[in-house]
Amino acid sequence: MCSIIGYKGRLNVASVLVDSLKRMEYRGYDSVGIATINNGKILIKKDIGKVADVNKSLDLGRMPGHTGIGHTRWATHGDVTYKNAHPHYGCTDRIAIVHNGIIENYKELREELIFLGHTFVSDTDSEVIAHLLERHYSGQKNIKKTVIEACRRLKGTYAFVAAFEDGTICGSRYDEPLIIGSVNNGYFISSDVLGFLEYTDKAIFLDNRDIVIVDSETCHIFDLDGNIVDRAITKVAWELAAIDKGKYAHHTLKEIHEQPNIVQKAGTQNLEKIEEFCNIVMNSKTLFLVGSGTSYHSALIAKHILSKFAKIRAEAIISSEFQFAFDDIDNTSVIIAISQSGETADVLQSVKAAKTMGARILSIVNNPTSSLARISDSSLSIDCGPEIGVAATKSFTAQLSLIYTIVDRLCNGCLDFEANKAFLVGALRQVLDTEIQIHSIAEGLRDARDIYIIGRSIHYAIALEGALKIKELAYVHTEGIAAGELKHGPLALIDRNSYVLLVNPTDMASEDNIASAYEIKARGAKIIGISDRPNNVYDIFIKIPSVKSTFYPIIEVLPFQILAYYLALAKDADPDYPRNLAKSVTVK
Ligand code: F6R
Repeated sequence: MCSIIGYKGRLNVASVLVDSLKRMEYRGYDSVGIATINNGKILIKKDIGKVADVNKSLDLGRMPGHTGIGHTRWATHGDVTYKNAHPHYGCTDRIAIVHNGIIENYKELREELIFLGHTFVSDTDSEVIAHLLERHYSGQKNIKKTVIEACRRLKGTYAFVAAFEDGTICGSRYDEPLIIGSVNNGYFISSDVLGFLEYTDKAIFLDNRDIVIVDSETCHIFDLDGNIVDRAITKVAWELAAIDKGKYAHHTLKEIHEQPNIVQKAGTQNLEKIEEFCNIVMNSKTLFLVGSGTSYHSALIAKHILSKFAKIRAEAIISSEFQFAFDDIDNTSVIIAISQSGETADVLQSVKAAKTMGARILSIVNNPTSSLARISDSSLSIDCGPEIGVAATKSFTAQLSLIYTIVDRLCNGCLDFEANKAFLVGALRQVLDTEIQIHSIAEGLRDARDIYIIGRSIHYAIALEGALKIKELAYVHTEGIAAGELKHGPLALIDRNSYVLLVNPTDMASEDNIASAYEIKARGAKIIGISDRPNNVYDIFIKIPSVKSTFYPIIEVLPFQILAYYLALAKDADPDYPRNLAKSVTVK
């Protein structure tokens, strides 16, 4: 969603803020803004677009000072316009704020403040925070009291940072992340550790309703009653170098190419933690797997292999549906929540609900300090480094690798994942070698209106994942369909304008898939087969290497990632920053 950042220290604040926003831009990229405080004056500059686009109009050279706040927006309330971009002042330029989340009672607060004489300029819910702070600040000028009073009135989810004319910055959070970065002679207040990792690895994770005030290079944390609270410093360890695009044109392409190394590294996670995780799974009576988007597709594959190899039955559920699905959760239930960011609101909500019903929580995350990891009884990290491209690519492969490792432990090594790893790495490299062929296939699909991806059994999850990649990166209507379901309805959609991709490596489902392909072909559609074996029914054939059938998902997803990437380019879309999306979806 939105990213927020605050800094007070010795450095030139404007460029520090812009660098931090660039690193967190995956969270939202509709518009950008910063506010700096200099000689008792708060100056705001903002514009529509991505950080790189608006860098010039921010005119950083004219924004001196060592204290400030910044924001990249993912619109929830109000269009993508200049006036809705953050930061927002109150009625005067004495206070400015940046906010991430949704203030649910903003209408009521706005009416009340308008009645008291405040004038609003934006359509956002966020602007009420600036006016509320202003209301409580005027007269008493006591920042601690001001923030406490304002936070007591806010309902909904929020993380905000406010800048005051006297050079103080402060912030608070409720169900949105807010993390302090401690540097020599200063502090950051940020949505994500990426906002300050270039400067420090010392982080303080704020709890819900904590209030942080940074004045004169000192940082104080209070609860809502004004009592000082003690929050530990955590050392965060992420390789910053991984944030560069390197020789690649986009983060997405770089992340696609990182996948062989990720599989190579998989399973080297802390063995004791895997043991603890597996013990909790084995002691469960009912097991649920929850996730959203790509992480849900990993859950589908986990369900399949848990049942087949570890003989453990699990339900895989889209996290936003979880709350409607089950009333019978109790202290014998275990939830495995899968989430790259560990901050997805739908996932957190389902996990919290299950927790109140007594369930134990396990999680698979990429960020071991995320909210999800921190509320879990046991959490494992996929450890694939920051994923900047908004579409999940390498995190999916890393999730699958960790799931194979876990299931292997649960079935006493029956998958032999470790022994197969080197071979899988080679197979992934071979698929990457088909990039030029897939690029030209993507060019041929430039004008496709509808694409269907068909798969059976474990490959159905890949059909869904492939469709999600093409939808989000190339904005083409694409549906993943269980091959057996074709004749129950979807076949009516197929005609000579349709493109059908068939995920069909050799296994027990492949003969049936070929039969389905002939039915599709009889309706005039063009068929692109993704398989280790050619077949006459395919108009176009993308060859993938033969591997042990359980491991095909990790191999066969790559052609879809590459296809989605090049189709995005063919359609002039930015694959790193698809329209209307954000990497970390922290609102419901
Ligand atoms: C798809 C994609 C999204 C995420 C989903 C869950 O490419 O990126 O569908 O998979 O928003 O995000 P996490 O895994 O962070 O919970």
